[in-house]
Amino acid sequence: MINIQPKTHGPTLDSPIEHLNACHRRIEERLDTLERAGRHLQTRSDEALTAIRSAFRFFDSNGVKHTADEEESFFPRMSAHLAPGERQFLENLHTEHEQTEGLYAELTGHVAKMANPPTASDVQRYTELAAALCSLYRQHIRNEDARFPAIAQRILTTDDLTAIGQEMKHRRGI
Ligand SMILES: [Fe+2]
Ligand SMILES: [Fe+2]
Repeated sequence: MINIQPKTHGPTLDSPIEHLNACHRRIEERLDTLERAGRHLQTRSDEALTAIRSAFRFFDSNGVKHTADEEESFFPRMSAHLAPGERQFLENLHTEHEQTEGLYAELTGHVAKMANPPTASDVQRYTELAAALCSLYRQHIRNEDARFPAIAQRILTTDDLTAIGQEMKHRRGI
């Protein structure tokens, strides 16, 4: 069986910066699932497609909210206080968000059109798109993990973090 169950549990939304980090680990698990399921698309297509669609549901819900947390709650509160190099860093993160969203849309569009069971060329295209998405998204996460928490910790006040936590809860209907 192709494992689609999450393994990690993160801190609560009362610790917004730590929550971003925990969400990265959950995203990485789904990226692993997309690659692993791709290796079984021809031999165990039903099982592989179930795993792929489960990962898509995660990206469509948690993944979208995670990017909104960064773009709508974190970035605007930080922008006035960034050093020049940090401003470029956040602009790069924004560009990477757009690039991952574009590749993700291509991947989901391809899966929606695939035959069942998928043909060899379906599988090849899936593998190419999933590899490109995984590579870009993993690098994006490495970039964020390396610099973003320290910049956010320095700039954001306790009141900012409380407000961000409230917005993150609101986004999740909590
Ligand atoms: Fe991000
Ligand atoms: Fe992130």
